[in-house]
Amino acid sequence: MLHINQPLKIKGITLDNRFVMPPMASAKSDNGVVSQELCAYYDEKSQDGQFGLIITEHAYINTEGKASLGQLSIADASCINGLSQLVSIIHKNGAKVIAQISHAGCQTSSEVTGKETVSASAVRLSDKFEIPHELSKDEIESIVKDFTNSAIYAKEAGFDGVEIHSAHGYLLNQFYSPLTNKRNDEYNGSTLEGRVRLHLEIIESVRKNVGDEFIIALRLGACDYMEGGSTKADSVKASVMFEKAGVDLLDISGGCRGILQNLQSLLKMQSLFQLY
Ligand SMILES: Cc1cc2nc3c(=O)[nH]c(=O)nc-3n(C[C@H](O)[C@H](O)[C@H](O)COP(=O)(O)O)c2cc1C
Repeated sequence: MLHINQPLKIKGITLDNRFVMPPMASAKSDNGVVSQELCAYYDEKSQDGQFGLIITEHAYINTEGKASLGQLSIADASCINGLSQLVSIIHKNGAKVIAQISHAGCQTSSEVTGKETVSASAVRLSDKFEIPHELSKDEIESIVKDFTNSAIYAKEAGFDGVEIHSAHGYLLNQFYSPLTNKRNDEYNGSTLEGRVRLHLEIIESVRKNVGDEFIIALRLGACDYMEGGSTKADSVKASVMFEKAGVDLLDISGGCRGILQNLQSLLKMQSLFQLY
């Protein structure tokens, strides 16, 4: 008997099998709101209980963290109705469902967000992106609240859990990667404790507000595969910290490689400019 067809228990929730549909942005929302097209898409994907678990596409936790037009929103309570419709369809088809919640950091544009882009530090990802504003401690605190509120909305909509997005060069990955985190405070990029501080604050706050039975997953961009970037050894240590803070499920993916292709040459250019 194949292991992959066997049920898997995560806390009080049992997946019928171990096939998982990963989060994939469909751009089918109607200005952030769940559309009929989006419902039809997830209905088709979850038919016949083929996947034990569906992780829905990244949804933004606040407008500053919106990655692109057409991205799904989980930024305020008005999203709950549409999201609960989506959850009912997936549950009816026999799959469990968790919502990926995300802040794009500076991997977006002021055209999309209507605001200045933000990040751990004023480091431009590549020449395609703007130079972001470095988040202040008050702004970081409000991001923790926004992640927490989004998790609460997900619970109210009937999701079985949330997945905190910290991969693919988005905000939490920007804090995690020493290539994009040049801070010198307690969120600093020169120690692993500094690089994961924001993650731990979010995980602890979410757990406090959603209770023990709700699944908290974290998608980690576990390695940048770039000189000076995050390494697999860092991720092993970070994962232990995430689990202690309340994470039930780790979803391992890539970090900043590809997004930061031009970063090293940009940083060299910036330091040359500072010399003159
Ligand atoms: C069109 C498309 C949209 C994606 N959107 C997301 C997303 O919203 N969140 C996320 O974490 N990953 C996203 N991904 C990455 C996938 O979840 C997945 O990790 C990737 O396709 C690699 O597949 P693998 O993990 O099976 O190797 C997306 C990938 C594609 C092709």
